[in-house]
Amino acid sequence: MKTIADLGDLRGKRVLVRSDLNVPLDGTTITDDGRIRASAPTIKMLSQMGARVIVCAHLGRPKGAPDAKYSLAPVAQRLAVVLETPVAFAEDTVGESARAAVESLPDGGVLLLENLRFNAGETAKTDADRAEFAGELASLADVFVSDGFGVVHREQASVYDVAKLLPHATGGLVEAEVNVLRRLTTDAERPYAVVLGGAKVSDKLGVIGNLLGSADRLLIGGGMVFTFLAAQGHEVGKSLLEADQIDTVKGYLERAEKEGVEIVLPVDIVAADSFSAEADHQVVAATSIPSESMGLDIGPASSTLFDQKLSDCRTVFWNGPMGAFEMAPFAEGTRALAQTLADITSKGALTVVGGGDSAAAVRQLGFDDSQFGHISTGGGASLEYLEGRSLPGLTVLDDEGDD
Ligand code: 3PG
Repeated sequence: MKTIADLGDLRGKRVLVRSDLNVPLDGTTITDDGRIRASAPTIKMLSQMGARVIVCAHLGRPKGAPDAKYSLAPVAQRLAVVLETPVAFAEDTVGESARAAVESLPDGGVLLLENLRFNAGETAKTDADRAEFAGELASLADVFVSDGFGVVHREQASVYDVAKLLPHATGGLVEAEVNVLRRLTTDAERPYAVVLGGAKVSDKLGVIGNLLGSADRLLIGGGMVFTFLAAQGHEVGKSLLEADQIDTVKGYLERAEKEGVEIVLPVDIVAADSFSAEADHQVVAATSIPSESMGLDIGPASSTLFDQKLSDCRTVFWNGPMGAFEMAPFAEGTRALAQTLADITSKGALTVVGGGDSAAAVRQLGFDDSQFGHISTGGGASLEYLEGRSLPGLTVLDDEGDD
């Protein structure tokens, strides 16, 4: 893969940068700007090289047409603050506003285009529709820099097709992310543990299958734990359950035993009578969740157990909160886990927090990025990388023939 240095003198050149600026918003207020801060160094570097920097990104999942609630306008403002430089904003992606803004960009200037997904071509399933939009994007620029790690698993116009049309390079963020994840897949220092949480076990089945061949321990929390408990024959009350995944999970439990991978499940659960911060709740044994209750967090004994299982680890990857951390009564499992990771980081272990949700959770719970080895900006992307899948946004950058 080529890096920005391989692109030569960029002074006066129009550089299209794909960043992942998909940040959580409350109305127009950005509640976690981690992805903007992580994207800033590449943009700043290009600007300092005298390039005319055209940043493109998506926000949320609009349906291929403009939708004000997904506008990147608030992101442009925050990017300007983070970069400490003005950021122009185009009100469309490849239309008149974008073209005029590119035209008037000075050397070193930075422009953010409106949400790429306001154009149906960005996420189109047919190659021809994507290629048409990619062609319009490419016509705005002289070179392309791929720096949106969180989207490299998407075969989309601004991630994949545009790289075939312009001389291209990998940005610093994608490079850094891939370097860390490669360490996990090729030479993780042992013991190596993976902690998986979040709501859906079906999202993580691929990665679990692959990890059974590489990790030493697999710790499970979050909503997905109830499918594991059900697979062991326990009642889970009104907790989240993916009944159609029970057999697959049973298969994984058997395979883990054969391959000597330790699967660690919570021993206690915070069970509530409804999904609400005000709900009555109590700590119960994981094996006896009352039929009228739903599990919303792992309990204190589970946090202690997880801490013991992680304290001697030299490498830990964590994706997905342990409970409904947005509600204070159910945040303690996630907070305790983040503390364990921070502790082992200070003892020299490599800890990687993967995914928008987990990253936002640790920041929301008062932790600082520096307390972890690496906070990945990509949730789905980092999981698919660990799954061993080939990611279109990365493979296309290896394709030297097309530039
Ligand atoms: C993410 O939030 O994981 C990335 O920005 C990708 O977004 P997507 O899942 O909507 O493609």
